[in-house]
Amino acid sequence: MRLLVTGGAGFIGSNFVHQTVREHPEVEVTVLDALTYAGDEKSLAPVADAITFAKGDITDADLVDELVSDADVVVHFAAESHNDNSLSNPWPFVQTNIIGTFTLLEAVRRHGTRYHHISTDEVYGDLELDDPAKFTPETPYNPSSPYSSTKAGSDLLVRAWARSFGVQATISNCSNNYGPYQHVEKFIPRQITNVIDGIRPKLYGTGENVRDWIHVEDHNSAVWAIIERGRIGETYLIGANGEQNNKDVVELILELTGQPRDAYDLVSDRPGHDLRYAIDSFKLRDELGWAPQYENFRDGLAATIDWYTANEGWWRPQKDATEAKYAQLGR
Ligand code: NAD
Ligand code: DAU
Repeated sequence: MRLLVTGGAGFIGSNFVHQTVREHPEVEVTVLDALTYAGDEKSLAPVADAITFAKGDITDADLVDELVSDADVVVHFAAESHNDNSLSNPWPFVQTNIIGTFTLLEAVRRHGTRYHHISTDEVYGDLELDDPAKFTPETPYNPSSPYSSTKAGSDLLVRAWARSFGVQATISNCSNNYGPYQHVEKFIPRQITNVIDGIRPKLYGTGENVRDWIHVEDHNSAVWAIIERGRIGETYLIGANGEQNNKDVVELILELTGQPRDAYDLVSDRPGHDLRYAIDSFKLRDELGWAPQYENFRDGLAATIDWYTANEGWWRPQKDATEAKYAQLGR
């Protein structure tokens, strides 16, 4: 199989490439990545000799056509992915998430290439904190932020290209990922690296918002299950029953790093901040026989703290600029 992975120098994409090289050595991997502020070739260093890397933009139709013409399967991770950035400047989100996905869809349509689209549970909006419900494939789309609305738009393009043009597509909507190689702008790496730097962790609002955490390796094993066994035209929700409120996560990071559990600050809230996400992944489990391997969040978080402690050279170049951006937002 010749696999084209967009966004393979980002957090989830680079972990996906590592997993693929390790567990599917027969697959020929090409990564297409623009190396924006969020992409880092260092994340692919351990597998650099086993893959082909193309630096380029998914909105570049000629480049995308050339790479897709040489692929059997495309897995599309590339995106602008951070909600806070989308509130400061939505344009790159429209450009990459919508125009970029359109460009890929046109190429896979021309070449008849199998396409898997990586998306987010945020397309469904949010749930009340005390609502027992979870998101299912039937939940109506109701995105809140520029980020989630552009991801929702990209999902709808995929559905239309599948139905109207017969594109061989599947979609997955996953909950919040954690693990190695995640940019320090995101919640868990930001707080871990703050503690390492002697800065108090920052909780938005009251800290009561809930996210449904999944280890990145489990997200990627689910993506492989869909590539291998997923039904064309279907949407699969990926989640591992990992609901935690932000305050509990920060307290656990503080405990695991030997700090007092209350050594954090509450800061101003994110505008439009979604309250709670929760995934019902029954379809993935029942139809494709997928199950997560990293169900103990405490152990997964401890391993992630160890990774950031041992890999300061990977995140240090991004840290000051990231905190300067947050300081401007008062967060
Ligand atoms: P990330 O920001 O860490 O990585 C994105 C990658 O895409 C970077 O390497 C960047 O250089 C590349 N990229 C951005 N714009 C590009 C362009 N125009 N052309 C080519 N490459 C470009 O993101 P992530 O957290 O790894 O998320 C990957 C995908 O998974 C996204 O589609 C995101 O919506 C989705 N997702 C993320 C999460 C999560 O918790 N992080 C959860 C569910 C779904
Ligand atoms: O649900 C999937 C989504 O999860 C993905 O689609 C996104 O790409 C990914 O970034 C993530 O979105 P969130 O907005 O949930 O992630 P973030 O890491 O930005 O924040 C997680 C929670 O922590 C959220 O409730 C906001 C809060 N937060 C975040 C930061 C950076 C804080 O309280 N303090 C912080 O410093």
